[in-house]
Amino acid sequence: AETRTYDFDIGWVRRNPDGQQERSVVGINGQWPIPRIEANVGDVVVVNAKNSLGNRTDSIHFHGLYQNGTTHMDGAGSVSQCPIPSGSTFTYNFTVDQPGTYWYHSHVDGQYPDGLRGPLIVHDPENPFKDQYDEELVLTLSDWYHDEMPDLLSGFLSVTNPTGAEPVPNSALMNDTQNATISVQPGKTYFLRIINMAAFAPQYFWIEGHSFKIIEVDGIYTEATEADQLHISAAQRYGVLLTTKNTTNENFAIVGSMDTDLFDAIPDGLNPNEITEFEPFDDFYLVPQDKEELLPEPDMQIQLDVVMDNLNNGFNYAFFNNLTWTKPVVPTLYTVLSAPPSMLNEARIYGSNTNTFVLPHMSVVEMIVNNHDPGKHPFHLHGHAFQTIIRSDEEAGDYDPNNATDRDFPATPMRRDTVLMRPNGHLVLRFRADNPGVWIFHCHIEWHVSSGLIMTFVEAPEQLRANLSASHTVPQDHFDACNALSPP
Ligand code: C2O
Repeated sequence: AETRTYDFDIGWVRRNPDGQQERSVVGINGQWPIPRIEANVGDVVVVNAKNSLGNRTDSIHFHGLYQNGTTHMDGAGSVSQCPIPSGSTFTYNFTVDQPGTYWYHSHVDGQYPDGLRGPLIVHDPENPFKDQYDEELVLTLSDWYHDEMPDLLSGFLSVTNPTGAEPVPNSALMNDTQNATISVQPGKTYFLRIINMAAFAPQYFWIEGHSFKIIEVDGIYTEATEADQLHISAAQRYGVLLTTKNTTNENFAIVGSMDTDLFDAIPDGLNPNEITEFEPFDDFYLVPQDKEELLPEPDMQIQLDVVMDNLNNGFNYAFFNNLTWTKPVVPTLYTVLSAPPSMLNEARIYGSNTNTFVLPHMSVVEMIVNNHDPGKHPFHLHGHAFQTIIRSDEEAGDYDPNNATDRDFPATPMRRDTVLMRPNGHLVLRFRADNPGVWIFHCHIEWHVSSGLIMTFVEAPEQLRANLSASHTVPQDHFDACNALSPP
């Protein structure tokens, strides 16, 4: 195993990725698109993150990595660390012990759509499909806005927007441009890793004249499954095997087309491609290659109703049950480290607006998520991939354990870290609390993160505290970040 060190100086650069408007974007070392983080399974990754933005805090979250034993390296602002103050350097240091297609992004204040998001690839010398492809390729998809997030957010979270209509992207990017070209050889097979780094829009994805085989979903190998079109929500990834045609005199379009169902209006100049000829592949039916069986009956059931509504003051916010998440003053992890030991299992010590659930170590947790909203929501859990055991059609209403369809669980459920919940439908997810840490579950639409669609798991707090204090694992620069933000 090796140590891969990345020195990231995070600062503003000017770019015009869609050819329509130049704007300030968050770059790294003067570059944008920002560099790819790459490692092999077993490597240590060190990221020295220097915040040179001048006017903003930041952080880096490594989306999809379980961070087993290193929850303090998860990068979730106000949850596992304080936001990094401008002018400071903060070091992330962790071992990567899972192969797959991931990404990294800022996890403070709706910041990543301003540019601080890029691929994180963990190569696998033992990839079970390694004899079936010649080369690896990475393709990113993203929506794109011409305005900066703080400006868009102040309009979104205001009384002038009582319906909570989300800002509609100005354009869509592929590999951070609108004229991406991928050169391939005829008759070869590529392991193509596709990442949607969007703030908001899912994309339909296909390649003219080609089908492909899905072999990975959010870092989990699947049984090879033929598909000709994918629907990829914000934060989801697919790894597919693509065999090129044996012809040298043709080009084939690679198409990413935004799913406009979520948009209140289609802006001028945005022409989504017609997608009626396909039926996108349904990820619910993917079978993990390890055939991990359905987890047993849960020790703990958590029901979350998703509601988008106005607060009494007329502002539109998002709620899990009756709570809209607001940042705790002390990051939740540091409360675990400092609370009286006898209180660790009491959710209320983690703040009244953090929507915290304490999970006993190794318990089987079942989450029932009911969508009381006509929108689609891509839900993501930090620290785990969950088994998706029910995903209803749209308009199915709440989960009903007495309904036969709702009890028809797959024997080897699809696992991933981000799953799309359909309009007014429901999800049932299971995972085992085998990763002591502080992990959030949230909608990965960045607008909904900002309007509070987040809840917190404090998983096995006693084990977590024992692990972290035994090796006095949390480094001083992490605490310094908090001190710099609120001088004593
Ligand atoms: Cu992509 Cu909370 O993360």
